[in-house]
Amino acid sequence: MKRALVSMCVAMIAWGCEREAGYDGLGEAEAELAFMYEGEEVGRFALAALASSGGVDVEGYDPYYERDKRFRAVELVGVLERAYGGLGLKLSEQEFILRASDGYTVPMSGERIIEGRPLLAYADLEAEGWEPIGPQKANPGPFYVVWRGAEQKDLEQYPRPWQLAQIEIAPFEQVFPKTLPEGAPRESAAWRGFAIYKDQCVRCHAVNQQGGRVGPELNVPRNITEYRPEDQIRAYIKNPRAFRYGNMPPFPHLTDADLDDVLAYLKAMKARKDDPAEADGG
Ligand code: HEC
Repeated sequence: MKRALVSMCVAMIAWGCEREAGYDGLGEAEAELAFMYEGEEVGRFALAALASSGGVDVEGYDPYYERDKRFRAVELVGVLERAYGGLGLKLSEQEFILRASDGYTVPMSGERIIEGRPLLAYADLEAEGWEPIGPQKANPGPFYVVWRGAEQKDLEQYPRPWQLAQIEIAPFEQVFPKTLPEGAPRESAAWRGFAIYKDQCVRCHAVNQQGGRVGPELNVPRNITEYRPEDQIRAYIKNPRAFRYGNMPPFPHLTDADLDDVLAYLKAMKARKDDPAEADGG
């Protein structure tokens, strides 16, 4: 397997398959997108190479900008086919993890990608460079995931990571094993809460230091339920901006039963602390 990956990388040299160069600190034109397969890098495309493979102009409502936006973009499916084509995988059966350079981490099924056909925007056609995005007015480049369908505006179902830096094919359970409430009964509230966490929270929050880095860690060294009252956690999740202006979006659609499950999950993880920093003695 390893051999196949290496020769595939060699075959992609024309696409900018340079293993040494990282994304950090590179100028936009040299920005790269890295592709991983179960922990190993299998390719890297430079922005210039992506752009040369045929961009399209897309226009539509953007829920972050809250109005119509125009971008130049390539089909994500096409990019994935080129990146992973040599591995002989059925993309619709894979689980993907999209990682942004700001720590945003989005698990997404291959099925959702194949059916929803998101695009990888690489240029904002309405601004010099990129128009700043989100509450922190971040630069969304070099790669911003967008969806074009009128019914694809919901950010939970159709997430739009910006500053996309890496795409990995790997099962969630393999990449974030310490986030699972192992040992809890399969039908329990803890597992239902885990499903919500996996779907909507891991993008920004780590548990046992596995997951996104946009929001605070929720389990170590202290579990969130050890220093925040439960009612406050519930209210915060529903509407964080009623407490403070920050970067957590509101989750008004979560029902009280959903929040019971989320709390059950968080409390289950209190008994499953596994802090890599502790193990290092620090
Ligand atoms: C887009 C990123 C993002 C997502 C998605 C997100 N959060 Fe947050 N969360 C944050 C950030 C950032 C903070 C830090 C405070 C702030 O900016 O509001 C935070 C804070 C928190 C806090 C701490 C509040 C306190 O009392 O200090 C809790 C609990 C929490 N989030 C739970 C969740 C849960 C549960 C979900 C999923 C249903 C979730 N978050 C989804 C970004 C996110």
